[in-house]
Amino acid sequence: RLRMFQAMTWAAAQRGDHASRLMHHPWRANPYPTHRRLRAQGALVRSRFGFRTATSHALVQGILRDRSLGVRPEGPTAEPTGVDLIDLSFLTRNPPEHTRLRALARPAFTPRMMERYAVEIEKITHDLLDRALAKGRFDLMADFAQPLPIAVITRLLGVPDDDHAAFVEIGAAIGSSLDGPRSARHLRRIQDASDRLDALFDHLMRLRRADPREDVVSSLTAATDAGEITPREMAAMCRLLLVAGFETTVNLIGNGTAALLRHRDQWDLLTADPGLAGNTVEEVLRYDPPVQMTSRWVNRDTSIMGHELRRGSYILCSIGAAGRDPDRFADPDRFDITRTDASDHLAFSGGIHYCLGAPLARLEGRIALHALATRAPRLRPAGRPVHRPTTTLRGLAAFPVTTGEG
Ligand code: HEM
Repeated sequence: RLRMFQAMTWAAAQRGDHASRLMHHPWRANPYPTHRRLRAQGALVRSRFGFRTATSHALVQGILRDRSLGVRPEGPTAEPTGVDLIDLSFLTRNPPEHTRLRALARPAFTPRMMERYAVEIEKITHDLLDRALAKGRFDLMADFAQPLPIAVITRLLGVPDDDHAAFVEIGAAIGSSLDGPRSARHLRRIQDASDRLDALFDHLMRLRRADPREDVVSSLTAATDAGEITPREMAAMCRLLLVAGFETTVNLIGNGTAALLRHRDQWDLLTADPGLAGNTVEEVLRYDPPVQMTSRWVNRDTSIMGHELRRGSYILCSIGAAGRDPDRFADPDRFDITRTDASDHLAFSGGIHYCLGAPLARLEGRIALHALATRAPRLRPAGRPVHRPTTTLRGLAAFPVTTGEG
C-alpha cells in the first residue's frame, strides 16, 4: 500500500500536484518554489488525494491554535492513523491525556534547567570544535551538528556512558519514523529499534530507582512509582524526548550554517558581531525550518478565517510555506539575520503542542553558531551540501567545510 501511495503521488506530482511534489525528489531538494506555487493557489489548497494543505502564516497559526482540531481523529468512526506507528507520547495525544503527560515532562525545560544545561552545552560544543577544527577540513554534520544535540539529550535523560553507542544507533532508527516509513523493511527496522529501546530504558529505570540522580529518567521513575504515569507511558515519553532531541536541532545547526555560508555577507555580519547568534537562530527557523510540516484532524466542525472545516477532514500545515509568506514577512526569500520579526515563525508549531524543547533548541543553536563564528571566522564550504531524502524533516546528510586556515 505504501508503494502504491508513493507511485500515485509521484504520478500526481508529474502532473503538477504541488502537495504531492513535496513528497518526492527532485522537488523536495528545494521545496520553496513548490511552497510558493501552492500558496499562489490559496491559503487552503485541496489535494487530489482528499487532504488539504494550509499554506499561509495566518491560517497555519489559526489551525494550530484551534481546539476543534487535534493530532488524532476522535469519535466512534475514527479510523486508525499513521500516528500510531510508534507511540510518541503526548506529541500524538489530544487532551486530556496530552495535558497530563506534558505536565510531567515540563520540569526538564524550565529556565532554571536551561541555565544548568548551558554550562554543559558550552563544554560539549567547544570539545567538538577542538577536534573538528584541528582537522582543517571536516564534515559539519558528522563532526559537529549531529553529535552536539545527541550528547545533550542523552545527558538530559541520564543515559550512562556505557549505553551511549546503543542509544545513538537506536535513536537514529526511531527518529527516522518522524518522516514516515519508506518501505516495509524500514518499518521493521523502526519497530525492532523501538523494542530494543524499551529494554534499554527498562534497565536504566532500575538503575535510577536504586540510585536516583538529577535527570529526566530519575524523575519519571519516581512518578511511575507514585502511580502518576504507567511504565508504558514513561517509555513512550523517554522515546519522544530522545527522538525530538536527535532529529531536529541537528538540522537547525546544519541548515543555519549552510544558509550563512551561502550568504557570505550574513556570515560576515555574524563573525563581526557574534551577539547576533540568537537572532540568527530565529531567522534560520523562519527561512529553512527543520520540521517542514505537521498535520491536524478536524474533530468538530469549525470555521477559521472564513474557511469552513468539516469534522473528519485532515489538514497538512505547511510550516515551510508559512515562514516564506509575503503577507507576514517582508521580502521573505531574503535571508537576513538582523530581521526584527523573524521569531514570529511557526517552526516550533503553536497552540497546545508548541514545542516543549524550544528553549533547549534555541540555547543549543545559539551556542553552536556563536562558537562556530568566533572560532572559525574563515569557515567556507569545501563541497556541496548533501540533502537528506526526507519530507517532513529538512536537513543535510553531509556538508564538507574547511576552516580556511593554512
Ligand atoms: C513538538 C519542532 C527541538 C521536544 C514539536 C513540534 C514541532 C517541533 C514543530 C510540534 C509538532 C506539532 O504541533 O504537531 C522542533 C524544532 C526543534 C525542536 C524545529 C529544533 C530546532 C526539540 C528538542 C526537544 C523537543 C531539543 C527536547 C529534547 C519536543 C516535544 C514536543 C515537540 C516534547 C511535543 C510537544 C507537545 O505535543 O505538546 N517540536 N523541535 N523539541 N518537541 Fe520540538
